[in-house]
Amino acid sequence: MIPFWLWAFNGPFNIMNSTILKLLLVCSFLIACTDSAELQENSRAQKVLLQYKQDLKSALSLGMNEGFVEAVSVCRVKAPKIASELSQGGIRVGRTSHRLRNPDNAAPDWVEPILREYIEDLTTREPRHIQLKGNRLGYVEPIILQPICTACHGEVIADAIADQIKTLYPDDRAVGFKPGDLRGVIWMDYPPGDL
Ligand code: HEC
Repeated sequence: MIPFWLWAFNGPFNIMNSTILKLLLVCSFLIACTDSAELQENSRAQKVLLQYKQDLKSALSLGMNEGFVEAVSVCRVKAPKIASELSQGGIRVGRTSHRLRNPDNAAPDWVEPILREYIEDLTTREPRHIQLKGNRLGYVEPIILQPICTACHGEVIADAIADQIKTLYPDDRAVGFKPGDLRGVIWMDYPPGDL
C-alpha cells in the first residue's frame, strides 16, 4: 500500500500539473501569436508610412536639383501620385493642413478633429492612433516645418517661386510658416489583419 502523499503526487496532481502546464503553454503561444500579429500589422502600416515619407522626400530633393521653380511642379505632379500609389491593399495615406496649398489635400472627416487638436495645443506633437468606423484603424502624425521648406512655405518667398505657386494654386494659404511650426499632418487609415 503506497502512502497517500506519494499516490497524490504521482497521480491526480501530476496529471493536473501537466494539464496546467499545457494550458500555460497554449496561452503563451496564443499571446505570442497575437503579439506577432500586432507587430506585423504595425510593421505593414509603418512600412507604407515610411515609404510615403521617403518618396516625398526624394521627390522633393530630385525636384530641387532642377531648381525651386521646377520643384514646385514636381511637388504638384508627384505628391498626389505618391499618395495614390501607396494607397493600396486597403491602406490609404495622405497629407493635409489647416492652411492648404492644394484644396484636394483637404482632411478626411476623421482627421479634421485631430488636426484641430494639434493646432489648439501646439505643444502636443505625439502621433495619434485611433479606432475608426468599419473596423479600420487611423494614424496621424504632425508635420513640422524644416528650414528647407521655407523656400516654398516660408515668410519670404523668391518672386519666381511665388509667381509659380500663385499660378498653380490661386487659393494658396500655405505660406508664412517658420521652421518648427506645425505645417500639417500625415495621415493613414488601414484595416487590421489581412497582412
Ligand atoms: C519647391 C517648393 C516646395 C518645397 C521646398 C516644399 N513644398 Fe510643400 N508643397 C509644395 C507644393 C507645390 C505643394 C502642393 C502639392 C500638391 O498639389 O499636392 C505642397 C504641399 C505640401 C503639403 C500638403 C498640404 C497642402 O497644403 O496642400 C504639405 C503638408 C507640405 N507641402 C509640407 C512641406 C514640408 C514639410 C516641406 C519641407 C520638408 C515642404 N513642403 C517643402 C511645394 C513645396
